[in-house]
Amino acid sequence: MNTQVNLEAKTEFVEWFNQRWNNRMGAIDGFDVAFIGALLASQKSSTIVEIGCASGLSTAVIASLQEQISPARLTSFDIDDRFYEDRTKPVGYLIEEALPHPSVDVSIQTGKVSLDVGEHVSDPIDFCFIDAAHKHPWPLIDTLAVLPLMKPGGVVVQHDLKMFLSVDFYATGPKILLDQTPPKSQIRHGSVASVPEFKNLKTRGRDGNIYAIRVPEDYRQLGAKLCQGFYLGWDVAPSKKISKQFADRFIDFLSLHYGPAVARSFKIGMKRYNSPIRTPAPSSEPQGHATSISRKIVNKLTK
Ligand SMILES: C[S@@+](CC[C@H](N)C(=O)[O-])C[C@H]1O[C@@H](n2cnc3c(N)ncnc32)[C@H](O)[C@@H]1O
Repeated sequence: MNTQVNLEAKTEFVEWFNQRWNNRMGAIDGFDVAFIGALLASQKSSTIVEIGCASGLSTAVIASLQEQISPARLTSFDIDDRFYEDRTKPVGYLIEEALPHPSVDVSIQTGKVSLDVGEHVSDPIDFCFIDAAHKHPWPLIDTLAVLPLMKPGGVVVQHDLKMFLSVDFYATGPKILLDQTPPKSQIRHGSVASVPEFKNLKTRGRDGNIYAIRVPEDYRQLGAKLCQGFYLGWDVAPSKKISKQFADRFIDFLSLHYGPAVARSFKIGMKRYNSPIRTPAPSSEPQGHATSISRKIVNKLTK
């Protein structure tokens, strides 16, 4: 299937987007919209999920584009209930301003994460857009959390691939996930048909910041490959370490849906990269030779 969105609607859409988008809001840009639009048009999605709603710009974009394609239900999840760039605004406030989308039923779930999706979405998911926490391993966690709920042949879209190149917003999550994804399951920005009218959308000027993973018949096989990413250095900030409560819940989920080997890879990553920071015990020992000898002994015992 490749549905063409009608031209008049596209012009109105381009105006709507350009009036609301700015470079500071951390939202999808025109290149990303073109990619998402082409993917939506290439399949008939009836169940759509988004992780990371923020202002609701991407939610409104997906609803407007999907309106031109087929009826659907779109559920957007966010851990927060306020828009992070302007705390006076609720998460998803731009949905109110979206172009009419009578055939696309949108709901926003705040205070929720990817592990909560199953409680709110019962039909198999055709299209999932992940744009939440980008520090590794969050995109991997979110992907493994939704894969068992996806329809085979569906797509999981990942935003902000290029964050591993950023100085101010460094995060390797989307890049490490892509590197674990078998090439046959990858959908890269150059491989989807472009939408000519979308060249008028505002962008950050750098294409290729988005990709998708095609869900295979057996999601477990894909999960077994993706989970290798847990062994690679995590870049979660010390202040944002993964809590024991979340980790326990996620381990149960992995064991249930993927089996013990995948759960074990997460546990090893937790141990390697998410252990509490040890503060050195106060010592009355004089600094210098004696300290370095005792440190050598400790190192021997712990390495
Ligand atoms: C980059 S913004 C999303 C931008 C939005 N997709 C757009 O293009 O308009 C990331 C959002 O993800 C949310 N978030 C961060 N970590 C999350 C998590 N673990 N689960 C769900 N949402 C999360 C943040 O609160 C923030 O609103």
